[in-house]
Amino acid sequence: MSVERRGPVLVEGPVEITLDDGTTVRSDRFMVAVCTCRRSRTYPWCDTSHRARERAAPPPPGAGEAGGAGEADDGSER
Ligand code: FES
Repeated sequence: MSVERRGPVLVEGPVEITLDDGTTVRSDRFMVAVCTCRRSRTYPWCDTSHRARERAAPPPPGAGEAGGAGEADDGSER
């Protein structure tokens, strides 16, 4: 098993997961990406929706680069 930072947990398949409602889902893939962000449209399987959240995160303070015009449109300083 391997854990991706801000991403899925990668588990060698086959994998069987019991969901909150008691139903069981199964994947027979060689490597299975299990969603940890709960944004996946195919939950509990990762559909890479976690990547959109990473891009939407504002840059850390002081990390601006020359020509950082995108920061002014953010409005995060208001
Ligand atoms: S971890 Fe990839 S969509 Fe949730």
